[in-house]
Amino acid sequence: MLTKQVHLLRRPEKVSVDDFEVREVDLPELENNQVLIENLYMSVDPYMRRSMESDGKDLDPWPLNAPLDGPSIGRVIESNNPNYAIGDIVESMSGWQQHFISDAEDFVPYLSSNNAIVKRNGVENIDPMDYVGLLGIASQTAYFAMMCATTLVPGETTVISSGAGSVGSLACQIAKIQGARVVTSAGSDRKVEWLRDELGVDFAFNYKTTPIDIGLREGCPNGIDQVLENASPEHFSACLPLMNFGKQLLIAGMVGIYDSGGKVNNIDNFEHVLDSFLTIKGHLFMDYLDAYDQFTKDMLTWRGEGKLIQKVHVFEGIESAPEALLALFNGKGRGKIVVRV
Ligand SMILES: NC(=O)c1ccc[n+]([C@@H]2O[C@H](COP(=O)([O-])OP(=O)(O)OC[C@H]3O[C@@H](n4cnc5c(N)ncnc54)[C@H](OP(=O)(O)O)[C@@H]3O)[C@@H](O)[C@H]2O)c1
Repeated sequence: MLTKQVHLLRRPEKVSVDDFEVREVDLPELENNQVLIENLYMSVDPYMRRSMESDGKDLDPWPLNAPLDGPSIGRVIESNNPNYAIGDIVESMSGWQQHFISDAEDFVPYLSSNNAIVKRNGVENIDPMDYVGLLGIASQTAYFAMMCATTLVPGETTVISSGAGSVGSLACQIAKIQGARVVTSAGSDRKVEWLRDELGVDFAFNYKTTPIDIGLREGCPNGIDQVLENASPEHFSACLPLMNFGKQLLIAGMVGIYDSGGKVNNIDNFEHVLDSFLTIKGHLFMDYLDAYDQFTKDMLTWRGEGKLIQKVHVFEGIESAPEALLALFNGKGRGKIVVRV
């Protein structure tokens, strides 16, 4: 059958939609034990920009002129495998294409306690999109940061950068649920208003119009007790002088540098790490997968109780996937960016 895949044409310095091409390909007939999956939704995530480099360090580089990979949720539409029926909803790393054939061994094992295809029947109030949205990797990153990697003390100040992003917007709300005082920033007044008025953060500022050190100083009169860094070396550096003694900064990533070489050359104020005996920790969601079941339960409960809002920005059609990826770096998206394939 004919299907469409998005291919990467070159390894750009600055990513543009022209670096991708949507190609029509003919899939072969199914062999024994194989299944044909129709993707419903795919996730775009900042790490993908690093997969476009030839040396993505901890990531395998995306191939040129071949299907790309990334989290997706799809439906079995044909099956020669006795374990999978037509209509099963499956989670995989085979995004960036409308359909794909699988022997079901390349489904994502880390997303489930099972190590094969993920069938999460029995979880109520869940839409297939939730598997890349509310329960996807960005949400896991936010939850595990706030619930496992950090000890939030009610009333203490937590600073979260890229507050209107996918990880940031959920981390802000989870920190509020835990009683923390939440200070955050975003790149437009509209996003700042949303964070204050709808997500209920205690203080938010526009980092494009207010110098970050001034915004943080105003928002953190009693200093900073925890940081979740999502955005940039500039934001991280500005936190350091305000940190309270012996506290921790978690670094989930720095989305602001991924499209400009990915190097961190400019951490300032590092002496405060020594003077205030700070801990700096890289944060990886996969380190906390033992808590996956509790994560699912809490996220669905909080959403059901109206305590947690996930804003999902949906791009329509596989052709829009490159534009969706770019929206992570030009700030055009808000919340979790997903492509309805
Ligand atoms: N370690 C892990 O396990 C793990 C897993 C998932 C994600 N992450 C990391 O977590 C961070 C957040 O991921 P996400 O998926 O939620 O992405 P995201 O924050 O939604 O990323 C997109 C947003 O980043 C903001 N941004 C872009 N350039 C910026 C800059 N120079 N300074 C400040 N903000 C900038 C833009 O918002 P504005 O309009 O506000 O600028 C944009 O809308 C990323 O660094 C990602 O790599 C880590």
